[in-house]
Amino acid sequence: MPLLEVDHVVVQFGGVTAVNEACFAAEAGRVTGLIGPNGAGKTTCFNVISGLQKPTRGAVRFDGRKVTSVPVHRRSKRGMGRTFQRLEAFGSLSVRDNVRVAADIHRGVLGAVRGLGSSSRGGVDALLERVGIAAYADERADSIPTGTARLLELARCLAGDPKLLLLDEPSSGLDETETDDFGDLLRDLAAEGRAILMVEHDMDLVMGVCDEIHVLDFGSVIASGTPQEVRGDAAVQKAYLGYAPEDEAEPAHVGSAEHPAESTRTDLPVLSDDTTVLPPVGAGPLPGGAR
Ligand SMILES: Nc1ncnc2c1ncn2[C@@H]1O[C@H](COP(=O)(O)OP(=O)(O)OP(=O)(O)O)[C@@H](O)[C@H]1O
Ligand SMILES: [Mg+2]
Repeated sequence: MPLLEVDHVVVQFGGVTAVNEACFAAEAGRVTGLIGPNGAGKTTCFNVISGLQKPTRGAVRFDGRKVTSVPVHRRSKRGMGRTFQRLEAFGSLSVRDNVRVAADIHRGVLGAVRGLGSSSRGGVDALLERVGIAAYADERADSIPTGTARLLELARCLAGDPKLLLLDEPSSGLDETETDDFGDLLRDLAAEGRAILMVEHDMDLVMGVCDEIHVLDFGSVIASGTPQEVRGDAAVQKAYLGYAPEDEAEPAHVGSAEHPAESTRTDLPVLSDDTTVLPPVGAGPLPGGAR
């Protein structure tokens, strides 16, 4: 049984259906990608999984139990860790203290007061070392580069020793070398038996590290499979490119009757000569200024 199961989840915000009967899973020991164009519903799915957003319908199962109505802090206690698309660190605290606070929060107020558990400086520094930001330990969190702050988010998440890591765009702000190191770290974390579910726009990273990928478009899962399978899927190419390469018709880059919002989507890239490879939609400006 997968560690995490999202079962026919629907989220409606007034007239907007942000998530539409989404079904997908994440397994222990594997890196799973959740990708899709801007506004596809990825962050909303993370909010449902972590308990910040109550689904209109559907269920979330974690570690063999239904958690759909379990509050955020109890899901965290059961082993869910999360990083946010918008950085959440305490700006006026040092990098080290941010991780220490996260560890203290995880073991609970009573545990911290009684000195139970361990968020020792050694343990915190080992985490900073592990994610590659030990050199910034004494810096204020609001003074570090964005990529470093993303790694700090990951260290804060790991301070809770989660079984499942939900990572929302963790590589944005990282340079190429940092992204490579980050990919290696994700593989290591999965090898320890953790499940990693990652929302990410950097397709090189996604295709390079994920065991399985689920693709969301307009709130629904349109494809699931290995990177190879997803890369060659006509529906996925259509979602990203505006049309499948084998289509004879003109690219549908304007809004359709079915999805009027399509005309407002800003991440549909211009077509390159190599239409068999998904473009890195979040990896900086695209040729032709499509993003
Ligand atoms: N609190 C909210 N109220 C109303 N609409 C919302 C709310 N949160 C999200 N939405 C809408 O739901 C849809 C999905 O948004 P979501 O943030 O989940 O997308 P995403 O896939 O994470 O996009 P991105 O890649 O840009 O981060 C969008 O149309 C968004 O405008
Ligand atoms: Mg998002």
